[in-house]
Amino acid sequence: MLEARAVRKVFGDQDARSGAVLDGVDLVVPDGQFVALTGPSGSGKSTLLYLLGALDRPTSGDVLLRGQSTTTLGDDDLARLRLEAIGFVFQFHFLNEVLTAEENVMVPAMLAGRSEREARLLARAGLEALGLSHRLTHRPTRLSGGEQQRVALARALVNRPRLLLADEPTGNLDGASGERVMDILHEAHRRDGLTIVIVTHNMELAARADRHVAMRDGRLVHLAGEPDGPSSTVS
Ligand SMILES: Nc1ncnc2c1ncn2[C@@H]1O[C@H](COP(=O)(O)OP(=O)(O)OP(=O)(O)O)[C@@H](O)[C@H]1O
Ligand SMILES: [Mg+2]
Repeated sequence: MLEARAVRKVFGDQDARSGAVLDGVDLVVPDGQFVALTGPSGSGKSTLLYLLGALDRPTSGDVLLRGQSTTTLGDDDLARLRLEAIGFVFQFHFLNEVLTAEENVMVPAMLAGRSEREARLLARAGLEALGLSHRLTHRPTRLSGGEQQRVALARALVNRPRLLLADEPTGNLDGASGERVMDILHEAHRRDGLTIVIVTHNMELAARADRHVAMRDGRLVHLAGEPDGPSSTVS
């Protein structure tokens, strides 16, 4: 289970008057749930995803993964948690430009202690599953935006995390490729019980998730059909 409790985030150069980027977010994501997070640009979606993935710390409030507070963990424990338990796809994919597609996917597998041979096998299998077997030795600059996004997804999944957080994983993709990435996510969700939170602007894709959570101005908005959903409502 993943949980945000009264999470507030204020960035360093903002004073109280300019308001918090996240202003009291409460969210409980049970194991195995597929959540779509939507909201206008600047409403705080990426900031919330970073906090859920323990890539950043809240100004106040807490983020818990399986009952364990991530805000009290030291940097080393956090790094290990992210490597082993959480897959993250960034809004801007952040592939390493000097490595091939295959090598990009191998990196987290090797950091988690796998041999080079093992990591290569896993990377290949992951890239093949995403339809990229013909792109293994390409560097990111020679890949299309959609291909880069799928490499980033393969990289996020290579250590078989329990939790996948993906920031607009279909943002640069045309309709058919976007559907395909979503099919892959749904399959991982069904097959492995992967818990997934994705940010998307695409309402059709959001409607395919188990649950749709919307944000506005740093708060979660109550949606119809979400009786146990966020407590804060925005009118
Ligand atoms: N590191 C930072 N320092 C200062 N302000 C930030 C920082 N990161 C985000 N913000 C501000 O926080 C607000 C929310 O940003 P965030 O990236 O979470 O929005 P978003 O909902 O993901 O938007 P988009 O749909 O455009 O990706 C924005 O006003 C942004 O300027
Ligand atoms: Mg964003």
